Amino acid sequence: PWSDERARAVIEEFSHLEGPLMPMLHAVQETFGHVPDAVVPMLAEMLNISRAEVHGVVTFYHDFRHEPAGHHVLKLCRAEACQAAGGDALADHAEHRLGCKLGETTADGRVTVEPIYCLGLCATAPSAMLDGKIVARLNERRLDALIAEAQS
Ligand code: FES
Repeated sequence: PWSDERARAVIEEFSHLEGPLMPMLHAVQETFGHVPDAVVPMLAEMLNISRAEVHGVVTFYHDFRHEPAGHHVLKLCRAEACQAAGGDALADHAEHRLGCKLGETTADGRVTVEPIYCLGLCATAPSAMLDGKIVARLNERRLDALIAEAQS
């Protein structure tokens, strides 16, 4: 669970690095499952940069989550090759099925659906990942199966 002391300890481990902000943010997300707003002033103070700067980095990188994730995380590739292979329709389909938008978690807290930008599987696009397991050649039927698996 979150505590200021715990967050500070996690962050401080990287204070010796040259460009510590990204490693710090990754460590926070790894430890707490997301990057809470409370960590922004902490980082700003420690690194002697503005809160706006920290906030800018957190929001720029899609990897950082602002809310805790659901039990399962479904990532849909939204980069070019997957888009060209029908990714837009699949993203719409997933949003419709789950009743939430990309970047959100279902009301029951079971599934978080997020965009990801290229999984390195462009040749077998469109691609997705469920809880770290990569799925290639996605289509509506396979997406439904993934969603069912995540919801079960
Ligand atoms: Fe989707 Fe590369 S664009 S895997």
